[in-house]
Formats: sequence, C-alpha cells, structure tokens
Amino acid sequence: MPMPLFIANWKMHGGADFCRRWAREWAREFGDDSGGNDDNDGKGGDNGDNAEVVVCPPAVYIGTLRAALSATGGAAKKVMLGAQDISKFDGEGAYTGEMSATMIADSGCAFVIIGHSERRRLSGDDDEVVAAKLRAAVAAGLRPVLCIGESEDERRQGKTAAVIHRQLAAAIGIDGIGGCGLVVAYEPVWAIGSGQTPDAAAIDEVQQIIRQRLINLPDVVNGGGFGGRIMVVYGGSVRADNVAGLVSGGGVDGVLVGGASLSAAGFAAITRMP
Ligand code: PGA
Repeated sequence: MPMPLFIANWKMHGGADFCRRWAREWAREFGDDSGGNDDNDGKGGDNGDNAEVVVCPPAVYIGTLRAALSATGGAAKKVMLGAQDISKFDGEGAYTGEMSATMIADSGCAFVIIGHSERRRLSGDDDEVVAAKLRAAVAAGLRPVLCIGESEDERRQGKTAAVIHRQLAAAIGIDGIGGCGLVVAYEPVWAIGSGQTPDAAAIDEVQQIIRQRLINLPDVVNGGGFGGRIMVVYGGSVRADNVAGLVSGGGVDGVLVGGASLSAAGFAAITRMP
C-alpha cells in the first residue's frame, strides 16, 4: 500500500495573505524542523510522514504559496504543489491567457488537476480537450489528476460505469500515461460541494472499474511504490469525520478535497484520517 494521497483543491479561493496564513497554520499543525512538540495532542511532532500532500491553489498564487511554505521550514516543505488546470496547447505561442504544462511544471508544480467537473461543465473541457491536456501534462513531467464521475441523472439512470469508461477513454492511448504516476479522482458530480457522498461500497465498485480498465496500460506497476503505479482517489464532500470510512471502505488511495481544504487545520485533520 503506498502512502495515502491527500489533494487540496482551493478552486477560485484565496489570495496572497490567505496563502501565507494557510502555510503558517499548516506548519503549526505539524511542527517544524526543531522537532515540534511531541505532547500527545495529535498535533506537532507528527511531521506528516505517513501521507503525501498536494495543494492546488489558483495558478497565480503557486509561487506565493511555495515561498510561504518554504519560509515555515520543516514539515511544511513536505507539501507538494499542483495546478487546477493547464492549457491544451503545447509549447509556446499566441495563446493569450493560457498557461502551458511546461510553465506550470516550471513554477514548482508536480501535479495538475485535469477534467474537473466544474471545468467540464463551465469551461467546455470535453473528453477531447481532457485528452489534449493529459498529453501535455505527461510530456511536461507533471502527474495528472484526472477527474471523472457521473452526474445525478446519470447515476439515477444506472449509467455510472458507462460514464467512467467513457471519461477514462480520454487517457487510453496517450504516450507514457501508464508510467507517469497518473492519479484518477473519482468525483461523482452530485457529491461535490453538496455534503452528500456515495457509500463506501459504491466507491469501491468504481475504483475497481478504474483499476481494471487501466491495469494493462504499458508501464503500469501493479501495486508497490509510487512510481508508475496508478492511484485512485475519491473526491466530493470529504470531511475529517467521513474520510477514514471513505478511504478504507472505498478501497481508494486517498482523497481530493475542495471546501474543507481551505482551512489548513481542517485539511490537516483530514490527512490524519481520524
Ligand atoms: P468538495 O469539492 O470537497 O468541496 O466537495 C471537491 C472537488 O470539487 O474537488
């Protein structure tokens, strides 16, 4: 079992001061290089060694958050950075307003969220665009976090598996996708920001479909370490009081957290999986 992966998606929230406050609060949660406190309050002294943590702020604040985290030293450095999106266009060019995968990697990001349902719904990211972004991410050495999931209607009509297969197809056939450390986030659209979640058995069913579909891609490592292993995480209304059940019962490798990640203390509590 790899270390669980916790991804924070701030969406269009925050600012420069917010980044600095978040980083300080995060550092307080996990102590610093000096060893922190090791009283038994579940805080400090726990350097978060048993989890991989990725934070995805709005792209304009990636540098600010990176600086704020490194200013705190110690455990805060363990946070990896991710972007919430990248351009579908390769290289450089006359693409006003776009940010390439290479630029995002250059800004210090290791991960990028691709195909979030809000982008699919509000910004026209269809499966073809998603495939182009995946290709760009892999070529730039970013680990894509591919978001997939059914809508409320699709769920009611029993189309969940079909939707999962269709959305996953965007990843199949992309050069290097099997060995790039792909993360697939199962995010039922109806669970995002709604306070509702599927039960663990339903998550388990979907994660099995995902792994089954991807396991035969070239370079996929079946089990074992991070490397080429494809990870499946769950997203949608994850909180500290439901995360443990969703992860262990759902058979997933971690979670993607929206609203609850805006508080560093709240997100820290999630990463401790009480
Ligand atoms: P939520 O969002 O945790 O606020 O439900 C999850 C997501 O959209 O990634």
